[in-house]
Amino acid sequence: MEIERIQLQTHGDHGGMLIALEEDRNVPFVIRRVYYIFGTKNDVHRGRHAHRHLHQLAVAVRGSVTFLLDDGSGAEEVVLDDPSHGLMLGRMVWRELYDFSDDCVLMVLADQLYDPSDYITDYAEFLREVSGSMYVEDMAACQGH
Ligand code: TYD
Repeated sequence: MEIERIQLQTHGDHGGMLIALEEDRNVPFVIRRVYYIFGTKNDVHRGRHAHRHLHQLAVAVRGSVTFLLDDGSGAEEVVLDDPSHGLMLGRMVWRELYDFSDDCVLMVLADQLYDPSDYITDYAEFLREVSGSMYVEDMAACQGH
């Protein structure tokens, strides 16, 4: 699958660093929500869901975490361990998060408010829906849309 990483420009010098996240500049969507995950125990797996519409950008502002991303055509592991690395999480991508370091603070920017109805939490249902949307995209491509 295609993994979209964003290298975030770092401002700073030996005295310290700063990164700015700006809508439609280095964040490729309207920022409607920001949340952060911290204090996750090392043996805990989070996520295990996909979103029907949501786009997100994840940044490990401290520590490290591993993502397993699966778009229905294959899965890939991505380690986030650098505050200047952003990871785009598009719609219809199954994700699982694990191997959180004790100090991990994972910040996530999202283009929609929290909406439980946007979640797909059953993997078989995800595969059904993603294969349906791939079929619709293929048909649209064949018809030149
Ligand atoms: P959830 O999305 O299940 O997190 P994870 O997949 O990482 O375990 O969310 C955990 C809880 O937090 C759940 O009760 C819903 C709540 N929540 C909000 O209230 N607002 C939010 O923006 C998010 C992401 C979660």
